[in-house]
Amino acid sequence: MYPVEKATQLADRVYQVWIHAPHVARHAAPGQFVVIRIDEQGERIPLTISGVVGDSIRLIYMAVGKTTSQLARCRSGEPIRDIVGPLGRPTDIRRYGTCVLVGGGVGIASLPVIARALRAAGNRVVGVLGARTASLLILEEEMRDSCDEVFITTDDGSRDRKGFAADVLRDLVASRPIDAVWVIGPAIMMKVTSGVTKEKGILTFVSLNPVMVDGTGMCGSCRVRVGGQVKFACVDGPEFDAHQVDFDSLMQRLRMYQDEEKQAMDQFQAHPCGCHGGT
Ligand SMILES: Cc1cc2nc3c(=O)[nH]c(=O)nc-3n(C[C@H](O)[C@H](O)[C@H](O)COP(=O)(O)OP(=O)(O)OC[C@H]3O[C@@H](n4cnc5c(N)ncnc54)[C@H](O)[C@@H]3O)c2cc1C
Ligand code: FES
Repeated sequence: MYPVEKATQLADRVYQVWIHAPHVARHAAPGQFVVIRIDEQGERIPLTISGVVGDSIRLIYMAVGKTTSQLARCRSGEPIRDIVGPLGRPTDIRRYGTCVLVGGGVGIASLPVIARALRAAGNRVVGVLGARTASLLILEEEMRDSCDEVFITTDDGSRDRKGFAADVLRDLVASRPIDAVWVIGPAIMMKVTSGVTKEKGILTFVSLNPVMVDGTGMCGSCRVRVGGQVKFACVDGPEFDAHQVDFDSLMQRLRMYQDEEKQAMDQFQAHPCGCHGGT
């Protein structure tokens, strides 16, 4: 059992939880994730390790469904049943030169640990934080402490520049030499934003978020196409060379899963008794 030490809300539907998990905290590296199960009946979900202090890890997540909503109700002192990790290949931290870290929505949660590690390795680090609206922006102060420069953009213009993170990246790429870029956020945002660096041939990484079940390369549910080959995001990633990723097949698989979820939910709401309407 892993006790929750602190649980707070960061923005609309976005929460942060610190959990005492010494075996994860001692081995975690930037870019890695855990698979958690809240209780015996719970489902396993992957969440990025977005901070480590002593024996505790921080998870930041958006309440989008069953498990994340249940986690949002957890209070300090309550136990988490299982935490498996750290999983996945760590971010390739080395001296690149000038690095730009672009985060979209809750994807920003992954950035501070990567920013600090890149800076410690001697890089200049620029952060670009994108949110739909100002009230959904997270970790601004932490990113300002972890980066040399930070730019903010909101879809509706409620904070700083109106528009998308891709627009800020396009201007940065046009105005100064950039050596490496990370883009972390929803699949469509990663596809569009990493397209900005493609024609310039700037090394760009994305952290993929396909559906995962076991997180250990056994079930195949997280398969993605990268450079024409099938990869398992849980063991070969989650970070990949953005310009090699087949985003369309990733988004198609995510949509398939969402449609199945929606159908199951509609079925349940129409026939909560489980009769499936006689079919
Ligand atoms: C390696 C990895 C790291 C991740 N890190 C984070 C993180 O740090 N913070 C965070 O908020 N989320 C993260 N995610 C996504 C997170 O795992 C899902 O949001 C979570 O599994 C949803 O579980 P649920 O039971 O609450 O939702 P469910 O009830 O299973 O699904 C509800 C809805 O959530 C959406 N959903 C479910 N799984 C995913 C997914 N993998 N990607 C996108 N949408 C999904 C679908 O729209 C679905 O209809 C990560 C995913 C991966 C693969
Ligand atoms: S989650 Fe099962 S193979 Fe990756």
